[in-house]
Amino acid sequence: MSEKITLPPPDYQVNCDLNKALLERRSTREYRKDELTKKELGQLLWAAQGVTSVGAYRTAPSAGALYPLETLLVVGSCEELKPGVYRYDPRGHALTKIKAGDIRRDLAEASLGQTWMAGGAAMIVFTANYPRTTDRYGERGRRYVHMEAGHAGQNVSLAAVALDLGTVVVAAFDDAQVARVLGLPEGEAPLCIMPVGRKQ
Ligand SMILES: Cc1cc2nc3c(=O)[nH]c(=O)nc-3n(C[C@H](O)[C@H](O)[C@H](O)COP(=O)(O)O)c2cc1C
Repeated sequence: MSEKITLPPPDYQVNCDLNKALLERRSTREYRKDELTKKELGQLLWAAQGVTSVGAYRTAPSAGALYPLETLLVVGSCEELKPGVYRYDPRGHALTKIKAGDIRRDLAEASLGQTWMAGGAAMIVFTANYPRTTDRYGERGRRYVHMEAGHAGQNVSLAAVALDLGTVVVAAFDDAQVARVLGLPEGEAPLCIMPVGRKQ
């Protein structure tokens, strides 16, 4: 059983006007080599799927509050976290390592050779556990899951602007290859990958 790594508490006062964040959000594909901090990565993960109420509701809406998305963090360059793949636990605002080693190049390769992706210090990956939603809503639930990935991804994009970081949504990849590189369990499907780093 992997140990739980608690993240620094999210900062609810990061000072960035919403309209400025909307105005400045832009896909960024070139990054400085600098490391990111655990605090910055924790803030992005909280924006993605963090818990915001005692009922365990989250920063992004979810059909039926069933929360079919899983959020993974791929670490390449962060002083306080070893390279590897981590699973985000929204309730505990914590990480659990699921795979050791720097897999950024392998993920870029699996993303139809978008080699620039490996320049991001980290990557946030949204995956789907479809049955959580389709068991209640049937086939239509798949649509809901994809909409939820859009909500969560936009949260990350706007939080990145607030932290003066760059990111982009990547969805052009070989599903099976990405699942293999991440070490996903059977039935968990990758939806999108968001490399993140300091803007050049
Ligand atoms: C669902 C989706 C998939 C995308 N996949 C990729 C991708 O695989 N590679 C990439 O470089 N950009 C990808 N993008 C980013 C778009 O190219 C980008 O949003 C678009 O060019 C508009 O630019 P902007 O985001 O700066 O406004 C994707 C965006 C979305 C919403």
